[in-house]
Amino acid sequence: MAPVRKTIARGEPVKVGVLGAGAWAEFAHLPGFRRDPRCQLVAIADPSVERAQAFATKFDIPHVYASHEELIARADIDLVDVCTPSATHFELSWAALSAGKHVLCEKPVAYDFTETRRAAELARAMGVKTKLGFTFRYSPAMQYMKELIAADYLGTPFIFNGYEQNSQWLDPTNPLRQVDHTADQSVIQVSSLEGYGAPIMDLAHLFMGSRFREVVGTMRNFIPERVVRATGTMMRMNIDDGDVFIGDFESGAFGSIQTSFVTVGNYPGLEARVYGSKGALICRLVEENGICESLKGATADQVEFRELEIPARFYPPGGSKQESWRSLFYANLISSFISEILDDGPGNEGNFEDGAHVQELINAVELSCRERRWVSIPLAR
Ligand SMILES: NC(=O)c1ccc[n+]([C@@H]2O[C@H](COP(=O)([O-])OP(=O)(O)OC[C@H]3O[C@@H](n4cnc5c(N)ncnc54)[C@H](O)[C@@H]3O)[C@@H](O)[C@H]2O)c1
Repeated sequence: MAPVRKTIARGEPVKVGVLGAGAWAEFAHLPGFRRDPRCQLVAIADPSVERAQAFATKFDIPHVYASHEELIARADIDLVDVCTPSATHFELSWAALSAGKHVLCEKPVAYDFTETRRAAELARAMGVKTKLGFTFRYSPAMQYMKELIAADYLGTPFIFNGYEQNSQWLDPTNPLRQVDHTADQSVIQVSSLEGYGAPIMDLAHLFMGSRFREVVGTMRNFIPERVVRATGTMMRMNIDDGDVFIGDFESGAFGSIQTSFVTVGNYPGLEARVYGSKGALICRLVEENGICESLKGATADQVEFRELEIPARFYPPGGSKQESWRSLFYANLISSFISEILDDGPGNEGNFEDGAHVQELINAVELSCRERRWVSIPLAR
């Protein structure tokens, strides 16, 4: 019989188990859980037990495990956080969902959208909630932009332009992770399109209130050789370190998205622009001049873009745009998920279903590049 989801008694905290004691857990996930008094970190697991132990000490987590199985087996855990290398996400999320846990998973759940959709269906069948690490949807500036669009600031959205560009891997000696160094190097592999494209594609769907229905795009490898973390050596890596696509939305709008990790500029390097019949909004998430986000708006009767003040209610307690984007945006993501779990209602934004749509778009752009043609969505599978 399928395990039944544990109900959380009123006033009880959401009990959290974290898989993966890596860099992103340290700078984004764990500070986010520590900041929300409605949840409690119960356990952490990593095959590198020393790292898990070090994080347990730093973040005051009582239980440490060497395997995800031991953590997921704990009956008291309500929420499993998957913050491990991307290739492990599907297996770990599937195991946690099968055990009746709510799941927060770093993107992507899986490289093929049909797998992500299967995981979303399992979550629905188990009556649990899911959330993907679509970090930038939760930036206070993006949240305010979403509210302004819902309040009809733009009128009918005509055009979306999105960028996620930074110089994280411009230096080929910076050891590259999340890549398959055994892949056939005569064929370009998806890299930036997946790792950096996903969050801005998610924002395109969110802000346009519609999804891409047809796309054409290309991927390019600009830096041929890199040091790979898994081997510690400089080697040929035919990965997409830059990509661009255009497409039509179901609504009749159109849009473009460009991503790269070899483009000079600072983290996280997002820009989302929407132009509509009544106004336009440009949100920029780039650490510059000591701040990590800005929002500008223009209206048909006031065409000069003006800085919009982001209301304080969009910031987590103690947060400001002077804070690191990693902890600031993630605090909002975690607060959103804890609210959704405790409310026990239908609310569940940025879930695996949304992730499956983004993944289908990534798979469609890859196909378009490989076959040098326009590709329609839904994809035939
Ligand atoms: N949303 C964002 O903005 C954002 C930003 C950075 C990283 N990420 C994603 O976060 C994830 C983690 O990235 P990272 O930089 O922390 O990686 P990392 O390599 O520094 O850490 C991953 C950790 O997971 C551990 N691990 C591997 N298999 C495990 C298992 N079965 N159970 C438990 N632990 C296991 C590893 O030993 C390692 O300590 C990646 O998918 C990455 O793409 C997302």
